[in-house]
Amino acid sequence: MTDVVLPSVLSEIKLRLLCHDDIENIKLLCGDWFPIEYPDSWYHDITSNKKFFSLAATYRGSIVGMIVAEIKGRTKVHKEDGDILASSFPTDTQVAYILSLGVVKEFRKHGIGSLLLDSLKDHISTTAQDHCKAIYLHVLTTNNTAIHFYENRDFKQHHYLPYYYSIRGVLKDGFTYVLYINGGHPPWTILYPLLNSVFLDSAPTDYIQHIGS
Ligand code: COA
Repeated sequence: MTDVVLPSVLSEIKLRLLCHDDIENIKLLCGDWFPIEYPDSWYHDITSNKKFFSLAATYRGSIVGMIVAEIKGRTKVHKEDGDILASSFPTDTQVAYILSLGVVKEFRKHGIGSLLLDSLKDHISTTAQDHCKAIYLHVLTTNNTAIHFYENRDFKQHHYLPYYYSIRGVLKDGFTYVLYINGGHPPWTILYPLLNSVFLDSAPTDYIQHIGS
């Protein structure tokens, strides 16, 4: 991969779905991007199972970024994130979970991560229309670049997940981040103190921190 990336790189980026032939390549990329090791079955699944939206960003034929997401019913949300949506939303309401988003280091800060995220949003609006009410993901609490990226794109911290990841045998904390779309919202018990703090300036901050981070 070249070390020098032209400023106009984004105009040369092409998007395509990942396929079986990409597996060895994306194993190397994910090894670079993430401290977590995925089993071979994961790579097989994301490149063959139609339930995954697995999109590659390519530059002159080489993969320089990818996003993997699953649109699923709200009842299939991870147990620890079961309160992402208010219970008033019907059980057939959908959510999208981002399993992976990464860009080759030399190609970062050129808009490729944003392009991949926007492509996921376009895919959601085409396939799930307004039935999908939230996009969520997990991130290491130490991954400041990713946290900054998501927060700048209106994702909100929803849960603090102590010891969520096991990285080479060491337990690390995570966050759940959520972007609400199409009128989606969390339970009122979570929204209420935040609204209260805005309008009445009286909500105890430690309570907000406890439920919101
Ligand atoms: N010149 C200067 N800055 C630019 C730019 C340009 N031409 N184009 C985009 N940027 C800025 C964006 O505005 C953005 O800054 P902001 O968040 O302050 O607005 C920043 O560059 C990154 O945006 P973008 O280029 O769209 O994302 P990216 O391609 O750098 O990818 C990640 C972002 C998080 C995917 C990438 O850092 C990464 O792969 N990290 C490692 C893997 C990882 O941690 N993934 C997330 C796991 S949950």
